[in-house]
Amino acid sequence: MDLIEGIKGRRSIRKYKTDPVSEEALQKVIETMRWSPSWANTQCWELILVRDPNVKSELANTLTATNPARSSMAEAPLVVVVCGKKGVSGFKKGEAATVKGDWLMFDTGIAMQSLCLAAHALGLGTVVVGLFDHRKAEEILGVPQNVEVVTMTPLGYPAAQAGAPKRKEVSEFVFSERYPKKQ
Ligand SMILES: Cc1cc2nc3c(=O)[nH]c(=O)nc-3n(C[C@H](O)[C@H](O)[C@H](O)COP(=O)(O)O)c2cc1C
Repeated sequence: MDLIEGIKGRRSIRKYKTDPVSEEALQKVIETMRWSPSWANTQCWELILVRDPNVKSELANTLTATNPARSSMAEAPLVVVVCGKKGVSGFKKGEAATVKGDWLMFDTGIAMQSLCLAAHALGLGTVVVGLFDHRKAEEILGVPQNVEVVTMTPLGYPAAQAGAPKRKEVSEFVFSERYPKKQ
């Protein structure tokens, strides 16, 4: 798949078949993600692969009832939970190197996008899930204090294709030379 076509064609998938994902496909997705860029190549990401139906359903319950991705968490054969090690990305000798503090959200975000694109290239679906009770998910998964759960995604074969939500026009977010003055 052409990269630009892949980036533009990836959609959030919220309906999954129960068919399993082969170990080969899963490893390909993770191997691709592994090559994501990160702050000073710190690679603060860690993944938890959840296949146990009881744990998937516990994780689904950390999403609000109105989250449109909720049912997909238990439906898909696999949930990939993306965690970040704290105090690594954006740090020099234990001190934050920029006003942004910990860059773990940024690096795990890039890694998640790589994972979603690799999955898409293999015909697999994903949806980045961010709206859930993170502390509850950390408790369920036994995540230690120095690590935090950032996002998760179901991973499986799409049962239905999704339409593309509208995007802003380029002119709405690209400025020339400096930030425009308020009218
Ligand atoms: C950081 C982040 C958090 C998100 N959280 C959720 C979520 O909790 N539930 C959900 O259904 N979709 C979630 N999404 C998916 C977005 O709604 C989706 O990417 C956006 O509407 C654009 O649609 P597309 O991915 O099909 O292009 C999230 C996406 C991102 C990047």
